[in-house]
Amino acid sequence: MNFRNVIGQFFNDSYFCGLDIGSRKIKACLFYVRNPQDLDLLAVSELDTKGFQDTSVNDISEFSSAIGSTVDILVKKTQIRFRDVYLSVGGDLVETRPSRAVIPLAERGNKVITLHDIDRVRSQARILGVRLDDDVLHDFVQQFRVDDVNIALNPLGLYGRKLEVESLLAVTNVTRMRNISKAVKQAGFEVNKIFFGAHVLSEALLDKRQRLDGAVLVDLGARSTQVLVYKDGLLKNYVRSDFGGEDMTLRIAQTLGVARDLAEDIKRSYARVSEAKSSFEDEEILIKKEQSFVPVKRLLLNNTIETEVVRLVDLINGALRDAGTSSAFKGGMVMTGGGCLLPGLAERVESACGLSVRLGRPINGLNNAAAFCACTSVAETAYKGSKRYIFDSRKPEDWWQAFRTRLDEICNEYF
Ligand SMILES: Nc1ncnc2c1ncn2[C@@H]1O[C@H](COP(=O)(O)OP(=O)(O)OP(=O)(O)O)[C@@H](O)[C@H]1O
Ligand SMILES: [Mg+2]
Repeated sequence: MNFRNVIGQFFNDSYFCGLDIGSRKIKACLFYVRNPQDLDLLAVSELDTKGFQDTSVNDISEFSSAIGSTVDILVKKTQIRFRDVYLSVGGDLVETRPSRAVIPLAERGNKVITLHDIDRVRSQARILGVRLDDDVLHDFVQQFRVDDVNIALNPLGLYGRKLEVESLLAVTNVTRMRNISKAVKQAGFEVNKIFFGAHVLSEALLDKRQRLDGAVLVDLGARSTQVLVYKDGLLKNYVRSDFGGEDMTLRIAQTLGVARDLAEDIKRSYARVSEAKSSFEDEEILIKKEQSFVPVKRLLLNNTIETEVVRLVDLINGALRDAGTSSAFKGGMVMTGGGCLLPGLAERVESACGLSVRLGRPINGLNNAAAFCACTSVAETAYKGSKRYIFDSRKPEDWWQAFRTRLDEICNEYF
């Protein structure tokens, strides 16, 4: 065991388990911290979501056993015992709400804005934006304003008399989260922290440069789709809609007159987003209906999902339009969630939205890695927010720099 691991044991965080509660699937993953740049993904697992419907736990024992079985697969695969899990939630569980706050900086004259001032104004916006039974999962800063005139991307170090922030709060209901945490506890694990899925996805999949140049993140789940538009390093627009891969499945079930589960299989095996006219659209597939097999044209199948594809493209284009920034998005688009695995979808979105599109980060040996992004991203983000990461990634000169910055801030604050 090397020195880092000994320290890791001391902080009790050499292993990071991410848990993503989706409307159809519960996904889990386990990372081992080898070094700050190199997290080892040891295992992933996925099972159907049970005991949880719409936005609430409706059968805690069923839900808890679904969570337990999903996480136990990781334990069996890796032979590693752990207690803490980091939870990613999204979809209907999270509501977004704009908020703003302004704080005075100096009674007379002006003063240099410090990190402490920025934290203060953000926390003020969080307090003003929440209701009694809300919990803020994340606040996306959309704009800072110094003295009503100066719009700043980062006000740190500027002179000013008052500081204002416009934020978008991602809030969730305290009772619902307590019920989910209770189910995790009943399964034998502990929720260490809850994260907003869209936030951790952006953290893990869009780097600083992309967010400055303009970039888009799309998460296409089973029942919800989220679009996040970044420009100049800030979130310019967030849109969520109540449709996803499940709507395509149900439409196939209705058109072909088959059960939902068979429609899901047919979709995954044969459906494809049409380009112009592709050769295999004239092909027929055989589907089992009652006791016999019935031929179905692939063209019919592809046309069936077209409504949802157009809906997705319109949602993304609308989000780009409403972001209020007309220039190009050089950082491109990243698509995640199981729905984006539909063959031909990324290509269609690319041509219809005019942005280069890639699917969420690949994982060796896993052909549906894009569906696991929310789960892997939450574990990575949890690690990057941990004491372990600060210890691992800071060199001696960084500690010295951090000390000097803090000292400067204290001097600016009080003298
Ligand atoms: N290979 C595939 N081809 C097409 N669709 C797929 C494929 N694999 C998964 N899907 C679809 O992805 C959806 C599930 O995605 P995901 O697991 O991201 O959803 P979820 O996280 O449970 O839902 P949500 O985020 O809405 O709560 C389903 O509708 C499923 O049909
Ligand atoms: Mg999801």
